[in-house]
Amino acid sequence: MNAGDGPHSYVQNSSYQRGVLDVAKPVIEEEIATKLDIKNLPNRFCIADFGCSTGHNSFPAIQIITEAINQKYKSPKITSENLEFSVFFNDVITNDFDTLFRSLPPNIHYHAAAVPGDFHGRLLPEYSLHFAYSSWSLQWLTAVPEAVADSGSPAWNKGKILYSRDRKEVCDAYLDQFEKDIELFLESRAVEMVSGGLMALSVPAVPDFWNPESEYTIPSDVNLLGSCLLDMARKGRFNEAKVDSFNLPYYFPTPEQLKTILNKNQSFTIERLEILNNPGKHTLTTINARAAFFRAVHERLITDHFGSEIIDELFELYMNKLAASPVFVHPDNDKSTVILAVLKRKHN
Ligand SMILES: C[S@@+](CC[C@H](N)C(=O)[O-])C[C@H]1O[C@@H](n2cnc3c(N)ncnc32)[C@H](O)[C@@H]1O
Repeated sequence: MNAGDGPHSYVQNSSYQRGVLDVAKPVIEEEIATKLDIKNLPNRFCIADFGCSTGHNSFPAIQIITEAINQKYKSPKITSENLEFSVFFNDVITNDFDTLFRSLPPNIHYHAAAVPGDFHGRLLPEYSLHFAYSSWSLQWLTAVPEAVADSGSPAWNKGKILYSRDRKEVCDAYLDQFEKDIELFLESRAVEMVSGGLMALSVPAVPDFWNPESEYTIPSDVNLLGSCLLDMARKGRFNEAKVDSFNLPYYFPTPEQLKTILNKNQSFTIERLEILNNPGKHTLTTINARAAFFRAVHERLITDHFGSEIIDELFELYMNKLAASPVFVHPDNDKSTVILAVLKRKHN
């Protein structure tokens, strides 16, 4: 994600992701009230946000979670004064944690700490975590599936930068990697979480990938960006092979796909699986806003591969393509959704 808080930063261009919390809030509150089931409530309650970025969407989520927990455990014996919260903000080691800590809201009622590292592995001590949260982050894969970058494989994704409906082998390779990565995430959290602890995961999704009616989703929009890279290659700005070897490492599952993967895990029960229509999409009402949203998320990956000198030209081209296609201009045409899964760590 783009660091800092300048015009191209994630801070300034992530209202789309912020929208998820508005629809997830009542579900999270209800699940905490009815399903959080921790025996021997500790004095120190630990919460972690996996994939927090620069924090500005994380802080309101943590506030909702801590308030709901305080509400649940309000009793003469336990009060918010003696129930202390520790909040661990996790993201990759290259994340802009400086901006996160500089933006922490004043008068927070928790101890804040950073836990840098890959959330597909262990990050916290055994049986220490009471509530795990992750929003709009689990789509990121540990790596681009190997077959997708292999010119000898039927899953070679020549000329595209993400899977698309017309290439089944590519889709299968991405889904396979997504499944492996979600399993790693769950295995790690299973060790870290206490019995009865809850996990709320919001994952960007597509309704039914093979249905032409759901043609326009974020992945198809990203492939439009890929077609701009191809245009630039054809104009001689760089070699076409450079586009062939560039693939983005993320996958948006369908609800069925995610449910199947979550159900395979033995350590958690699925308490809730909701398909939410993200109101955040209505914040991207102009071509500029939509392009800025994509730029804030993809700029670093693109410049690492193609060099920073191409980025302004690429997004100019992209905005022209968006403007030429009425389907991309209206937020309601975007059929991407969000799955909110609430899982509970089983009692041993
Ligand atoms: C689109 S941002 C979402 C940020 C925030 N949760 C929100 O809702 O705005 C996804 C975040 O996940 C982080 N991320 C991706 N893969 C990760 C991994 N393996 N371990 C930790 N963080 C990861 C990215 O660095 C990025 O900050």
